[in-house]
Amino acid sequence: MRYATRLAVIAFLLSTLPSSAGQELREVVLRKSALKSGLIPAVETRVAVDAQMVTAGRLLFQSRSLSLDKQIACASCHVDRFGSADGLPNAFGTEASGQGLARMIGGGDIIPRNTLAFWGRGGKQFNIFFWDGKVDASSGTLHSQFAGKEPSDDALVVAVHLPPVEIGEMVMDSPANNALETESVSTAKQVYAILIERIRAMPELSGPLAQAAGKPVRALTFSDIAEAIASFIRENFAVRSTRFHDFVFNDGELSAQELAGGLLFYGKAGCSGCHNGPYFSDMDFHAIPFPQVGFGKNGFGVDYGRFNVTMDPDDRYKFRTPPLYNVTKTAPYSHSGSLYKLGDAIRAHVDPLALYDPGSMTDIERTEFYARLKTWSGEPINALHLAEDEVAALEAFLATLEYDSLLSTIETD
Ligand code: HEC
Ligand code: HEC
Repeated sequence: MRYATRLAVIAFLLSTLPSSAGQELREVVLRKSALKSGLIPAVETRVAVDAQMVTAGRLLFQSRSLSLDKQIACASCHVDRFGSADGLPNAFGTEASGQGLARMIGGGDIIPRNTLAFWGRGGKQFNIFFWDGKVDASSGTLHSQFAGKEPSDDALVVAVHLPPVEIGEMVMDSPANNALETESVSTAKQVYAILIERIRAMPELSGPLAQAAGKPVRALTFSDIAEAIASFIRENFAVRSTRFHDFVFNDGELSAQELAGGLLFYGKAGCSGCHNGPYFSDMDFHAIPFPQVGFGKNGFGVDYGRFNVTMDPDDRYKFRTPPLYNVTKTAPYSHSGSLYKLGDAIRAHVDPLALYDPGSMTDIERTEFYARLKTWSGEPINALHLAEDEVAALEAFLATLEYDSLLSTIETD
């Protein structure tokens, strides 16, 4: 038997022991399983950044001047109190205002995806970005919409280039912006040219950036802006030691329920088959039949996920395994933000029918659901039984992966 399989079997057997017995053995098995699955001390995921770049990047991240129509900042959607996401199923872009529910009630342009959080982004080996991996450096070559004309060889810096040129996200879908609607590399360049000229004329933003980049204000480019924001994300949301790290690396303690959840995670429930490595993501793409809400990236309630990038039919309905740090803070869950409860997000992996009401679905929605079940049936987690107390234990375990960001952010003009 492979070592990992053997550990899984031992973990399963131990999870059936009465709580008083085998406590120490359970702890040993959980520590070994975590190490085997690629957990490393938080500091070892860090990529060094320049402190001045971080300061300049934070100012830019907060500024609405980074959107063509001066309506929205990165910090409008990546909000502190929602764990660097926005607390909404689908994101609200231009023509929206406020935070959380207020943002949804007020209306505005809808981005048909759930806002992703930043924990660990841009750390060592974190090199695939967005739900469908549209920026991907995992093969050693960087792939993105820039199609060979990438503005940087750093995947996070390339990812940061995208929001400011996306229609509805930071560019208003208005007659005045008609010429930009193609979202091509050349229209992107037009937007970058306008933005950098604007920022150069704002000393409160360009001063710190010029100093950090070591060049005069007039020589600043949009890539300097992206570099600074990437440095800020890298530093502010870098993985910091969690209670689980403390348990694995410093003999820290977990409650009986957290321990049981951890053993399930690495054992019977098979979560670590995909949520593994330093970020609890295999940086690969899988199909889990989460309910889909909203218009969907492909329209009419459909999101083909990874297929949109690779055009490979086998990739339909697959999404990048989300990292799990601070997942307790980033509801609602999944690529379309369809589930508010963490327990339901866990259930979606094993018992999707519990979350659907087939009677209220149209025949087309049901056909779509069957197609997603078909892709899911290739995943080992398909049709596994998890009891309610097991789901609760997994939730308790996930709460041990919490940590705080370094600095806070606000939206500014
Ligand atoms: C309208 C809300 C909105 C705004 C404004 C916004 N984002 Fe996002 N962000 C999102 C959504 C939604 C996603 C997920 C999109 C997807 O994967 O298709 C995302 C994803 C990301 C990711 C990928 C994270 C990952 O896990 O792969 C990065 C990086 C990012 N945003 C950075 C930024 C930066 C930098 C800005 C400002 C320049 C910004 N965002 C502005 C909503 C927003
Ligand atoms: C086959 C790979 C795979 C396995 C095994 C797996 N997951 Fe996932 N998980 C995913 C993918 C992919 C998504 C995102 C799917 C989507 O959005 O459509 C996800 C989403 C999640 C989410 C929501 C995260 C968010 O930010 O929206 C949580 C929580 C989660 N998984 C926990 C677990 C737990 C706990 C287990 C074990 C019971 C588990 N996963 C097993 C691949 C997997």
